[in-house]
Amino acid sequence: MAVTKAVIPAAGLGTRFLPATKATPKEMLPVVDKPAIQYVVEEAARAGLDDVLIVTGRNKKSLEDHFDRAVELEETLAAKGDRDKLALVQQASAIATVHYVRQGDPKGLGHAVLAAAPHVGDQAFAVLLGDDLIDARDPLLETMLALQEREGGSVIALMEVPKDSISLYGCAAVEGAEGDVVRITGLVEKPAVADAPSNLAVLGRYVLSPTVFGLLRTTAPGHGGEIQITDALQGLIDVEPVHGVVFRGRRYDTGDRLDYLKAVVQLAADREDLGPPLLSWLREWLPEQP
Ligand code: G1P
Repeated sequence: MAVTKAVIPAAGLGTRFLPATKATPKEMLPVVDKPAIQYVVEEAARAGLDDVLIVTGRNKKSLEDHFDRAVELEETLAAKGDRDKLALVQQASAIATVHYVRQGDPKGLGHAVLAAAPHVGDQAFAVLLGDDLIDARDPLLETMLALQEREGGSVIALMEVPKDSISLYGCAAVEGAEGDVVRITGLVEKPAVADAPSNLAVLGRYVLSPTVFGLLRTTAPGHGGEIQITDALQGLIDVEPVHGVVFRGRRYDTGDRLDYLKAVVQLAADREDLGPPLLSWLREWLPEQP
């Protein structure tokens, strides 16, 4: 059965971005001129997943408003004849059918994914983490969905990272590479460098079999005292095939402040309207810096 549903966990407190995230969810911070989460919903829709469930915590209102119609604003823009801005406003509510569920206690990423169980039901589904933005020109999710359709089971996106930064990520032990596809034989959340089985980090894209829900229900708190999706997926390996797709395309990390700034500059530099003036200003400004 073709995958149709995407789950986007968005219940984190976003403490790395305080005070910006005191009253605004981290996912609503603009990356150039779009909230980070809109990129992710667009990515899901591009891959054919137009049923999107956002797992929220506090501050759910601005997320809901963003993907809803904004009738007053639309009428004002229409009366002014500002069609371009009207289209931007309307676009956000037309990308996908967006549903919401509350996580309740923030007990970790695995716990957030488990909150999606009633909505997802007994079918495979995708999970997209909002801190990782994938360039629209590099079809990672499409590749993963095609692999899952062919092989069944689950598919996890991986990327090569310098060995000394593997402890920031889930890490995969793999075998049998065929091009960029590997068989995952083990997963460990944020291992010490010395214990890491490889330099393949889990990137925030998963296509999961619904079997994971049963495993999540019995997964004990792991790294950081949280219920980790990585730990449930380790259990999945014992019962079903779990493949990895090693992604070598463009990824933008918005998870911490420095990476976020880099993502904004990179994505703005690529834009037709903003890129040329931004780059020419940067070229003038940088040599003047100490
Ligand atoms: C989460 C996952 C981790 C994964 C990472 C990708 O960690 O737990 O396995 O490698 O996302 O971005 P977080 O960044 O939420 O700490």
